[in-house]
Amino acid sequence: MSSEVYFDNNATTPCLDAVIAAVSDALGTNFGNPSSAHCRGYMRQEALGAARAFVEDVLGAPAGSAIFTSGGTEANNLVVLGVLRQAQARTPEPIRLITSPVEHSSVTRVADALVTQGVTVDYLPVGSDGVVSTDELELLLARPAALVSLQWANSETGVVQLIDRVAAICRDAGTPLHCDAAQAVGKLPIDLSTLPIDYLTFTGHKLHAPPGIGVVIDTAQRLSQSLWYGGDQERGLRPGTQNLAAIIGLREALEIRSADLDASVDHLRTLRDRFERLILQRIPTANVNGLESPRVCNTSNVCFPGIEGQALVAQMSRRGVCCSQTSACTSHVPRPSSALLAMGLSEEDAFASVRFSFSVLNTDAEVQAVADLLSEVYRDLLRLST
Ligand SMILES: Cc1ncc(COP(=O)(O)O)c(C=O)c1O
Repeated sequence: MSSEVYFDNNATTPCLDAVIAAVSDALGTNFGNPSSAHCRGYMRQEALGAARAFVEDVLGAPAGSAIFTSGGTEANNLVVLGVLRQAQARTPEPIRLITSPVEHSSVTRVADALVTQGVTVDYLPVGSDGVVSTDELELLLARPAALVSLQWANSETGVVQLIDRVAAICRDAGTPLHCDAAQAVGKLPIDLSTLPIDYLTFTGHKLHAPPGIGVVIDTAQRLSQSLWYGGDQERGLRPGTQNLAAIIGLREALEIRSADLDASVDHLRTLRDRFERLILQRIPTANVNGLESPRVCNTSNVCFPGIEGQALVAQMSRRGVCCSQTSACTSHVPRPSSALLAMGLSEEDAFASVRFSFSVLNTDAEVQAVADLLSEVYRDLLRLST
C-alpha cells in the first residue's frame, strides 16, 4: 500500500480538522474552568451550556438531560451501576438487570460485577442474525426488573437492535431502558422526543471528536446515584472539572455530522456494500457475518474460513492497512468475539473473522485497493495453513 489505509473506525476515528481547531482554541486562547467565579469562568460556563444544549437538541432530548463523562465506558458504568444501586436502595427485594450477550465489555463486565453483589442478570437470547428476541424480552418483563440495558448497534458486526420495539415493550412494562448508542450516533437518525429511551449513552471518538468525552442522556433526570465523590459538576453525578475542550470538540463533530447525516450514511453504505461485493467475488468461500441482518452503514465483519483472523490483521497491518479482529477494548486478549459466538458461529469461524469499519474520510479507491490486497494475503495464509 503506498499510504496507510485506516479501516478501523469502530475502534476510533481521526478528529476532523474543524474539530482540532475548536479543541485547540478551547485549550489555548479560550481556556478556562467553567466553575470559576470570574469573567473567564462565566464565559466558559456559557460555552459549556451551549454545547450541552446543542447535544440535547440534536438528539431530541430534553433541556438539562445531558451529563458529560470521560467516555462511553464511564457513561455505561454510571447508568447501569447507578440505576441498579438506586433500585437496591429502594427495596430489600432481590433486583434484576436484563441485558444481552452482545453488549460492549463496559456493560457485560458491570453485569458480572453486579452478580457478585446479589443482582440477578438475565441475558436475552440472540438469533443467528445477531438481533435479540423481543418476544423473550416481553416474557422476561412479566416479572419486575430494575433496568433493561441494550445496545443500539454492535461494534463488531454493526447489527442494529429493534430499539423502537424494545423501547415500546419497556415503556409498557414500566421498566427503564438504557441504550448504549456508541456505534449508532452519527450513523442512524436518533430522535429521543419520539422514542421512550430513559438513558442513552455514547462517546465522541467514534464520530471524529477526541477520545475521552462521553455523554449520558438522562431523559427524565432520574439518575441520582453518583459513583464518585467530589464537586457539583454535572449535577454531582460526574464530579470533577469538565473536559471542556473535548466537549467543544464533540459539539463541533456532532454539528458537522448532523448537517449532512443522509449524505454521510449514503457514502458509508456505498463503501461497505462495494467492499463486501468485491470480497465475496474474489474470495467465494468468505462470509459476511450478519449480511442479511439490519446493520449500521459502516461495518463489515467477514469470516475468512481456514485462517486465523489475527494473522490476517497482522499481515494487512504490515502492508499499511488497519483493521481488527474484535473490539479494541478486548482485542489484546486472544478470545473469540462473544458477539459472533452469540450469533452461533463456531469458535473457529469467530477466530477467522475480521472487522472492517469505514469513516466518511475513506474512499472508493481505498476499498478497491484493500479488497485486492486481502485476496492475495488470504491466499498466502491459506497456503501456509494447509
Ligand atoms: C458499543 C460501545 N460501547 C461503549 C464503548 C466504550 O466507549 P469508550 O471507548 O469511550 O470508553 C465502545 C467503544 O468501543 C463501544 O463500541
